[in-house]
Amino acid sequence: GAAVEVDLADIPPGGLKTVEWRGKPVWIMRRTPEMIAALSGQDDKLADPNSSKDALPEALRNPGRSERQDLFVAIGICTHLGCSPSAVAAGTSNPSVGEDWQGGFFCPCHGSTFDLAGRVFKNKPAPTNLEIPPHRFLSDARIVIG
Ligand code: FES
Repeated sequence: GAAVEVDLADIPPGGLKTVEWRGKPVWIMRRTPEMIAALSGQDDKLADPNSSKDALPEALRNPGRSERQDLFVAIGICTHLGCSPSAVAAGTSNPSVGEDWQGGFFCPCHGSTFDLAGRVFKNKPAPTNLEIPPHRFLSDARIVIG
């Protein structure tokens, strides 16, 4: 399928933009410094914090699973059975994770929960972290998916 060029300027801090690529929803989230900080310190709760099972280019092999830590790109499809997780802000009650929930994504179908880098929490049905599509930055404010 054709690559999709996306303008990033209209994504507010903490905001999420969804675009379609090859018939799939692709999320682009602008992570705030607080959201970036929340990626550390919860490795023991994550099933694969270092993305060892993920096919990722070297530039994305970091806790944020992103080239630019302020911008997170992922395919918005649960790796369990393909439902659509939704973004859940930090501080929102999330019985699936507990009181120290730092924000991320929650799949309503069978309760898989992912952090703000799409890393799945332990003991959830999703077998792997959220997939990251090929992408590259054209400038500060433009990205190409695909
Ligand atoms: Fe998401 Fe099953 S499809 S938890």
